[in-house]
Amino acid sequence: MLDDSNKPFFKWFVGGKTNIVYNCLDRHAETSRRNKLALMWEGEKGEFRSFSYFALRRETCRFANVLRSLGVQKGDRVTLYMGRIPELVIGMLACARIGAIHSVVYGGFTVEALHERLEDSHSKVLIVADGAYQRGKIVPLKSIADEALQRAASVESVLVVKRTGEPVNMESGRDMWYHELMVLPIAGNACHIEQMDAEDPLFILYTSGTTGKPKAILHTHGGFMVGTYTTLKYVFDIHDEDRYWCAADPGWITGHSYIVYGPLLNGATSFMYEGAPTYPYPNRWWQMVEKYGINILYTAPTAIRGLMRYGENWPNRHDLSSLRLLGSVGEPINPEAWKWYHRVIGKGRCPIMDTWWQTETGMFMITPMPCVALKPGSGTRPFPGVVMDILNEEGKPVAANEEGFLVIKEPWPAMIRTIYKDPERYVQQYWTKYPGVYMTGDSARRDEDGYYWVIGRVDDVLKVSGYRLGTAEIESALVSHPAVAEAAAIGLPHDVKGNAIHTYVILKTGIEKSDKLVDELRAHVAHEMGPIAKPDSIVFVESLPKTRSGKIMRRVLKARALGQEPKDLSTLEE
Ligand code: PRX
Repeated sequence: MLDDSNKPFFKWFVGGKTNIVYNCLDRHAETSRRNKLALMWEGEKGEFRSFSYFALRRETCRFANVLRSLGVQKGDRVTLYMGRIPELVIGMLACARIGAIHSVVYGGFTVEALHERLEDSHSKVLIVADGAYQRGKIVPLKSIADEALQRAASVESVLVVKRTGEPVNMESGRDMWYHELMVLPIAGNACHIEQMDAEDPLFILYTSGTTGKPKAILHTHGGFMVGTYTTLKYVFDIHDEDRYWCAADPGWITGHSYIVYGPLLNGATSFMYEGAPTYPYPNRWWQMVEKYGINILYTAPTAIRGLMRYGENWPNRHDLSSLRLLGSVGEPINPEAWKWYHRVIGKGRCPIMDTWWQTETGMFMITPMPCVALKPGSGTRPFPGVVMDILNEEGKPVAANEEGFLVIKEPWPAMIRTIYKDPERYVQQYWTKYPGVYMTGDSARRDEDGYYWVIGRVDDVLKVSGYRLGTAEIESALVSHPAVAEAAAIGLPHDVKGNAIHTYVILKTGIEKSDKLVDELRAHVAHEMGPIAKPDSIVFVESLPKTRSGKIMRRVLKARALGQEPKDLSTLEE
C-alpha cells in the first residue's frame, strides 16, 4: 500500500485506479442515495438551493463536458475564484472528473494574490463569479480578476458565474457566461469519467510558508480520498440522516477536505452558507442551525470568539437541540471559548472535536473521537495510525509538559506529495531539520496523559482569524507601494482574531510620514493581497533589526512590541 522507496516522496496505493469523483457522486447517484440531498445552500440574502446526489452528479457532468469542450485535459490546471456558492463545488468536482487539477483561490484574496497563483499554476482556464456578497456589500470578483489577468498570460478562457447580476466587463473571445454554456448541447448530462492513478494529482492549494511566495501543496486522488473519508467518518461519526455543516470556506483546505470531498465520499448531506456569521444579526448561524436541523457544526475558534462577544441571548433565542457534535479547527482554542461553545451552543451535551491538521496533512491528524475524554484546549491524541511526536532542538522527544517541535514520524495517506513544480522546496521545508521526520512548523507540549496541546507556529506564518498568511507576503505587498523601501510584519495576540498584523515600514528618502499614508498603505495591502491581510498597525521606522546576513529578525520586533527582552541577540547586526 505504501511505497517508501523514494523518501520523502511517498506514494500510496500504487497502481490503484480510481477517480475520487466516482466515489463522491456516481457511487451514491446509482444507489439508494440518489435522491438524498448532497448539498444544501443558503445565500446571504436568504435564498435556498439544494442538490440531490443525482442532481449534483448531473451538474458536475454538464460542467465537466463544458470544460472538455474548451480543451481542458487531464493534468491541466484550472483556477477557481468565487465566494461560497454551489458552483464552486460543482467546478471543483467537474475538474476532478476529467482529471484536471483544480486550484481554488479564496474569494477574500485580491489582485496580486490571484495573479501569483494563476501564473505559478499556469492555469488555462479561470472560473470566476461576477461578484460575491459579503455583509450586504458586493465584492467585485470579476473586476479584481480582470486586473489580475492583465498581469497573467496563460489563461485562455474565463468562465463567469452570475451571482450578483452587477454589470461586468466581458472580453470577447476570452470571457463566457457559465449559465449560457451550461445549456448548450455540448453540456450533456452524461460525462465519461477519467480513470486516474491513485497517485495522479487531484488539486493544488496555495498556502503560506516560512519564506517567499505561497507554495502549491499537491494532493492526489487515492490517498486524499482514503484520508478524508476515514477521518470524517470516525471523528464526526457521520450518519445518513445527519445534516452536517462545516462553516469554513471551500477556498481553504478545511473546505476541500470537509465541505466537499469528505462529506460526499461519506454520502452525507452537507450544508454551506454564503455569508458572514453575524449578518444581518449575530443570530444568523443559530437561526440556520434551527431552520435546517443541523446535527454537526464544525468551525474555527475565531468565529466562536467573535460570536461570544454578542452574548448568550442570541443563541438562546433558538432551538439548537438538533446539534449532536461540535468541531473546532484552524488555531488553538482557548479554554474560555471552548467552554462557551460547549455550554451555550452544545448545551453541555455535545462533545467538541478539536481537530489539529494542516493544508499539507489533508486530513485530521490530532483529534478526539466522540468516545474520548476531553480537556478544553487539547486535541487529545493522534488519529489511529498517525504517528506524532514532540522533539527538542537535538531531535530527542521532550519530557511531559515540555514545549518542543511538533513532528510527524510516519507517512499517512492524505499527506502532501510535493510542492507543485518545486520538489526541492518540499524536501527542504519539511524534511531537513530531522531527516525522515516531517516538520509541522508548530510547537506543542504533551501532558502526563499523553494529550497534545498545540501552542502555535514557530516560523514566520501567522494565523489571523484562522487564515494562514505569511509575513513575507504582507511585506512584499507593502514594498510594492512606491513610497515603501522596506517592511517587516509580525503577529501580536488579539482577543478575537488570535493574531493581529503589525507592520514596520521604512519609507523611501524624501517621503513624508503621515496618517494619510498609513491609510493608503493599508488600502494598498487590501487591494494587492486581500482585506484579510490588511495590517492593524503601521509604524514608520528608520531601521529594522537584521542579522548579519540581512534577514529581518521579526522575533526581536515582536519581543519589543510585547515589552519583553529579546532572547539571544548574538546574530543581530547592530
Ligand atoms: O498552527 C496550526 C494551526 O493551523 C496551521 C495549519 O494551517 P492551515 O494549513 O491553513 O490549515 C488550517 C486548517 C486545517 C497548523 O500548523 N491549527 C490548525 N488546527 C489547529 C491548529 N492549531 C491548534 N489547534 C488546532 N485544532
